[in-house]
Amino acid sequence: MSAGHPALASDVAGSYTVELPAPDDFDFWRDRARVLLQCDVPPDQVVWIEPGAGGDLFAVTARSLPVPQDPHRTVRASKRFLTLAKNVALHSDADRFALLYRLLWRHRSNPRIMEDRADPDVRRAEELDKAVRRDSHKMHAFVRFRLLDEGGEEHYVAWFEPEHHIVRANAGFFMRRFANMRWSILTPKGCLHWDGVTMREGPPASRSDAPDGDPVEDLWRSYYASIFNPARLKVGAMLKEMPKRYWKNMPEASLIPALVAGAQARESRMVEAGALEFEEKPDTLEGVSKAIHGCRKCPIGLLENTAVMGEGPREAMLMIVGEQPGDQEDQSGRPFVGPAGQLLDFHLQKAGIDRSQAYVTNAVKHFKYTPRGRRRIHQSPAAKEIDTCRWWLESERALVRPKLILAMGASAARALLGKTVSIARVRGQPQMLEDGSELWITAHPSYLLRLDGPARDAQTGMFDADLHAVRERLRELEGV
Ligand code: URA
Repeated sequence: MSAGHPALASDVAGSYTVELPAPDDFDFWRDRARVLLQCDVPPDQVVWIEPGAGGDLFAVTARSLPVPQDPHRTVRASKRFLTLAKNVALHSDADRFALLYRLLWRHRSNPRIMEDRADPDVRRAEELDKAVRRDSHKMHAFVRFRLLDEGGEEHYVAWFEPEHHIVRANAGFFMRRFANMRWSILTPKGCLHWDGVTMREGPPASRSDAPDGDPVEDLWRSYYASIFNPARLKVGAMLKEMPKRYWKNMPEASLIPALVAGAQARESRMVEAGALEFEEKPDTLEGVSKAIHGCRKCPIGLLENTAVMGEGPREAMLMIVGEQPGDQEDQSGRPFVGPAGQLLDFHLQKAGIDRSQAYVTNAVKHFKYTPRGRRRIHQSPAAKEIDTCRWWLESERALVRPKLILAMGASAARALLGKTVSIARVRGQPQMLEDGSELWITAHPSYLLRLDGPARDAQTGMFDADLHAVRERLRELEGV
């Protein structure tokens, strides 16, 4: 008995060809690889072809693949392999799918093959994975939009030349980062079009389809000049991160020689000036949200992350301020949804405080981390970064006008007071802020999560007591 697998055929000599519908179709490869393995087809009998790459070379007599005797037979692959394989599939190397199938096949005799870093196949897969991650990083960092006016509607268009098939895989990143803009990213490997609601994919484009210089270039230039930190200038590292081949699409690249030359002078001016300048504060919370998504006033905004806006009623009596979004908050775009958020929810409920009636936000709006492998490790914001981000917290305060602010942890306390204080010393003693609101300070729930044993019990007791006191005070204020 035979079953039709349209893109799976066998030639007379016993080799199979698998034609992929798209060069980045990992799911298709995985499905076909599973069938081939269940049919015990060794790697040297399979030819993997990308769309358009076949030609006469691979012309075969089409013959369907027999249905595996046991279609439920498990095909084993390590987690590491699967994580790597998804990236490797995006590489432009023509042999990548064959390499992946070979590795999958070799899992049968050696389930721990991926741990053998000396194995040439494993090493090659790691190289390809690294190249793809680097290409994605470049795309995140170097896409530059030009502004088109389409009958009064703004449309931002960017041209980018990826080395690998990474465009579709990175659609989500740009969708989150530029959620409120109408934009297109044109590339020779396919295009993305976002209208604020729906993402569409388009066929490959050429450089001439993309607009050239326009006013946005000036914006990028002034933006780059403002974030360029002469104190951290390392020319070698900069050139490595921003290879010259990307410069032609980057309006700010023309500034680099002059900025480098003037770095010393600018550094001393920055040290003297101290603070950064901002324009006017937005007059709606939507305006704040839009502005923080574009904020690059400190290095945290330059990491791969998405700003997280505060959430809650516009006229909340209680504002709760944490430190900064964590990994889960960054991904979901909402404050306090990860482990610290769950602990906070539990204790708020215990104290009788309704979170849905509070405005919950953070001192710093972007997630600061250091990458470690695939993980992003939380890093505390520096005092300077908290001070820079104060502008946004103050914008939220001016609009929500809470009567009581609960600052959790030292970063939040600094954001409200403009100076560093010891939590142990100030907790339980409300202070009046200049706008008449009351500031209460307590520990951060993440601090409780890091403790155990009697220390955790003691701190949890104090946290509960602080929340209880806040609840009581809110009741009093409700009557005012
Ligand atoms: N920690 C914070 O301070 N804020 C969040 O939103 C999440 C964790």
